[in-house]
Amino acid sequence: MNIKAYAKINLTLDILGLRADGFHELGSVTAPISLYDSISIEKSDSNVFKCDLPELRGDDNFCVRARDAFFARVGSAQPVLIKLQKHIPYPAGLGGGSADAAAVLNGLNALFGEPLSAEELFAIGAEVGSDVPMCMLGKCALCRGRGEKLTPLSGVPKLYITVAIGEGRLPTAKVFREYDASGAKPTDHTGAFIKAAETGDEKAMLAAMGNGFTDICASLCPETREMRSRLRSCGAKAAVLSGSGPAVYGVFPNAQAAMDAAREMRQKGFFAVNCETM
Ligand code: C5P
Repeated sequence: MNIKAYAKINLTLDILGLRADGFHELGSVTAPISLYDSISIEKSDSNVFKCDLPELRGDDNFCVRARDAFFARVGSAQPVLIKLQKHIPYPAGLGGGSADAAAVLNGLNALFGEPLSAEELFAIGAEVGSDVPMCMLGKCALCRGRGEKLTPLSGVPKLYITVAIGEGRLPTAKVFREYDASGAKPTDHTGAFIKAAETGDEKAMLAAMGNGFTDICASLCPETREMRSRLRSCGAKAAVLSGSGPAVYGVFPNAQAAMDAAREMRQKGFFAVNCETM
């Protein structure tokens, strides 16, 4: 079975406060994008996990954690061969690991005759990582709580985007820690975006897009600011940090404009790929 594990972008992200369990209360609107990792899963004689990137072959890989969590819930382990080909940069704020876990959970459930309900799968997903349920949903959604409480969101048009990332990488936990230490005040991009989506006001949606981590990421990884500014110079209607960064994306009027921007960003030395929301 071959599965595409789609990355996500955060159209909005607000960090609303630190919770007693050490996680943060979030408000976010997310959308899957057409940039994906390729995963194959098949029944096998022994449990094997292969990845084209040597540094991702450990037992802490999201694919392995998702596989183990799935069979722990089902109550009987079956050996499987899982192969992962990475295309989504990491750690980047694009949900790459979560997308892989989501694909493995959905894939195993299909391969073994759907032993688990959708609710059970979502619950296992939330145990593996805060963004896994959202990746399992595979649609534009309002995400609350740790990120795992989902409300599908309609009224958001397809967006033509270019995702860009430089040399720097930012581990999620570090960005949350530095954000807390900075004493930044919570933002409210999400409320404004939802209001705009309800009335179908595309201009207001673009204006509401934003990320509460923008300033802290710019100080930890200054190229995030530079990339956003370059995307705007390429004609982006909005240029926004995704998740905890350091990937950013620009929103363009059409696929051709996004493709031209990606080419220009690559010429400046960044990794850049044009894609679209799904
Ligand atoms: O849930 P996940 O494993 O993706 O989270 C990675 C890290 O990001 C957590 O260990 C935590 O430090 C931070 N995090 C958080 N609040 C969230 C989601 C993640 O503090 N809502």
